[in-house]
Amino acid sequence: MGIDPDSVRHEQLKAWVAQVAALTQPDRIVWCDGSQEEYDRLCAEMVAAGTFVQLNPARRPNSYLACSDPSDVARVEDRTFICSENQEDAGPTNNWEDPAKMKETLRGLFKGCMRGRTMYVIPFSMGPLGSPIAQIGVEISDSPYVVVNMRIMTRMGQAVYDVLGTDGFFIPCLHSVGAPLDPGQADVKWPCNPTAKYIVHFPETREIWSYGSGYGGNALLGKKCLALRIASTMARDEGWLAEHMLILGVESPTGEKTYVAAAFPSACGKTNFAMLIPPQSFNGWKITTVGDDIAWIKPGPDGRFRAINPEAGYFGVAPGTSEKTNCNAMATLRENIIFTNVALTDAGDVWWEGMGPAPAHCIDWQGKDWTPADGKAGRKAAHPNARFTAPAAQCPSIDPAWEDPRGVPISAFIFGGRRATTIPLVYQAFNWSFGVYMAATLGSETTAAAFGQQGVVRRDPFAMLPFCGYHMGDYFNHWLRIGHVVEHTPKIFCVNWFRMDEQGEFMWPGFSENMRVLKWIVDRVHGRVLARETVLGWMPRYEDIDWTGLDIGKAEFEGLTRIDAAGWKHELAGHKEWFDKMGGKLPRQLALKRDLFELELTG
Ligand code: OXD
Ligand code: MN
Repeated sequence: MGIDPDSVRHEQLKAWVAQVAALTQPDRIVWCDGSQEEYDRLCAEMVAAGTFVQLNPARRPNSYLACSDPSDVARVEDRTFICSENQEDAGPTNNWEDPAKMKETLRGLFKGCMRGRTMYVIPFSMGPLGSPIAQIGVEISDSPYVVVNMRIMTRMGQAVYDVLGTDGFFIPCLHSVGAPLDPGQADVKWPCNPTAKYIVHFPETREIWSYGSGYGGNALLGKKCLALRIASTMARDEGWLAEHMLILGVESPTGEKTYVAAAFPSACGKTNFAMLIPPQSFNGWKITTVGDDIAWIKPGPDGRFRAINPEAGYFGVAPGTSEKTNCNAMATLRENIIFTNVALTDAGDVWWEGMGPAPAHCIDWQGKDWTPADGKAGRKAAHPNARFTAPAAQCPSIDPAWEDPRGVPISAFIFGGRRATTIPLVYQAFNWSFGVYMAATLGSETTAAAFGQQGVVRRDPFAMLPFCGYHMGDYFNHWLRIGHVVEHTPKIFCVNWFRMDEQGEFMWPGFSENMRVLKWIVDRVHGRVLARETVLGWMPRYEDIDWTGLDIGKAEFEGLTRIDAAGWKHELAGHKEWFDKMGGKLPRQLALKRDLFELELTG
């Protein structure tokens, strides 16, 4: 059971584990092997402890529900720190603390914090094992919930030690729920620290320390902490990209395959887009999924950007997911799933808002009885940020090359936010640096994952605002430069699925119908379709989009693609305000482009 620590030959890793154990004083240490047996045993232990409810195996085989403490339901951006040596390197969009001072604070918190608990050593690979684009991490955690989630979300276990050898590089990720147990003290279902939460990154030394939360990106440290915040810093230093992007393949009826990577802020339907099923009229077209959240992209030997999904699973938002909105996700969720903070039905299955008809009765995510009357009164059965953890391999649309260690070649980048006004349905940047401008000024309204304010536009450049491990101005510069490193520079597009009319109704049906826009994008990439030149970039004409089976007339299309001069005046003022925050690190090219847009848009 587990790995014999004597078989681990990496002395630096063993020394780190010993050091952490001395500091945190766990009752026992388990070196995880990543096996099914280990997973099943930990799940059974969590069922016995009340952390997990096993779902009815006849309806949802090998699946569990965990409900968290109500104080621990989402990423905590205000408790997330980038502790670079110089404050200037973290930039104005990150919380910063002096690394030595922060380490002192954390050492104080971690001292004895695993007392009464088991410390798990979790070796994992982000990306296919041994891929030149992959990276290895080792998470130490006192949460069995973290272990089983990491087994789904990453390639975890024994094989990682084989790749690591005696001196391979790994990113140490230290995590504790921050809830030590006194001798004889009974544990709670969801241990966490209600008052002290710290999600801390040391970019120069490539370390992560996370304290006090057991939830999602706060605790599954391979995801946002390693694969985005630390990896973005490594990518800047080493000449590649670590991005908050889905990766999908578009297959035409003739078998032509085009891969695109797309960045959307949290809660904009990334998972739905990554698993899109084309409308019926798109006979023979197919979308395949490489990843739904993160892309690591390196210049390849073929002069193209090559992208991998560093994750092995989906940690997706459950509410709103249904047969209608995401049939592939629903099929992915049939078995072997960990659900968190959804409702439990009387039949021992799960339910969430937007899944389909509400059950007559269920137990909500806080363990209380719930009926549709409660729903009408505004009480939700599932938390809005409730999640599923699902193995990617179970997705019916999984791309055959999703584990190709070389990555897939990227032909286009797409950027989109949730914008009720101003931003047209789709436009293509004139060139790479215009595209970087568009991505650098990306904005979105609200996010359940981050508790944004309703209706207020938050600038979320490249959808990376909460995830960039260094100064955003330097990040923009990195992007401006890297476009010229490859011979086949991807084309850059902006989309907005969320434009509203004066009645507050969405003007675009979204979901499957996004395929129509995607096809135009692919046709542009291959130089097969004309476009209209506008001040923002290239836009489709009405006749450039395949409308078969969808009732959108010329006037509606005009509404969806209109460039509203007053709206853009306001938008550009917002860009200025945002750029001013970057201070001296804002690339001059971007400031000049803003002025150019202003001149062209407002005369
Ligand atoms: C996520 C997020 O959970 O972006 O993927 O918040
Ligand atoms: Mn995300």
